[in-house]
Amino acid sequence: MAKISASILSADFVNLERDVRSIGQTGADWLHVDVMDGCFVPNITIGLPVVKALRRVTGLPMDVHLMIDRPIRYARQFVEAGADWLTIHIEADTQENNLACLDLIRSLGCKAAIALKPGTPAQAAEPYLQKCDMILVMTVEPGFGGQSFMEPMMDKLKALRTRLDRVNPGCILQVDGGVDARTQALCKANGAEVLVTGSAYFKASDRAAFVKAIQA
Ligand code: DX5
Ligand code: ZN
Repeated sequence: MAKISASILSADFVNLERDVRSIGQTGADWLHVDVMDGCFVPNITIGLPVVKALRRVTGLPMDVHLMIDRPIRYARQFVEAGADWLTIHIEADTQENNLACLDLIRSLGCKAAIALKPGTPAQAAEPYLQKCDMILVMTVEPGFGGQSFMEPMMDKLKALRTRLDRVNPGCILQVDGGVDARTQALCKANGAEVLVTGSAYFKASDRAAFVKAIQA
């Protein structure tokens, strides 16, 4: 059974509390929070104060996706703000700093994840495979919601699942970007266990039914 992590990037920010509570009520498993710094990606979204505030209104696991340069600078603060899962991008720092960052996240009692942009090959994850609890395969260029799903990423997903089964079977795979009622099946067929969805979730006429379809 797959899990759905609903991305608040497509929520109504004026009514964020209402939308976050409704994510729980419609049966979604996790809350996905996209943090962007305007440097690693060409967009700026939300930061520490919002993560802290969200922690007060949801009991769902908070899945914080850091799209920021040199995430080691802020990892501790995001864990302290309430992240249950903290994802950093491979491309955002040196291998040495990324490995130290994953160790730091885990030492603070949080689950650690590494993300790969579409242009980053599966082999780039090799040094991290035993150091993380989840790998995020981006199925769009990070930065914006509502983009089209990149189907060629399914090969990368499959390759990573095969490799993880050998070296770290407990590590799960997540996909993020363009996941909707059609593409979700492809993601699951290729090994994704947690599916992030923003625009498709918020646009669904029956959100609870959409959640169930992904969890099936
Ligand atoms: C994109 C973000 C995603 C975004 C996905 O950079 O990482 O989490 O919210 O949105 P959709 O589901 O609309 O592609
Ligand atoms: Zn995301």
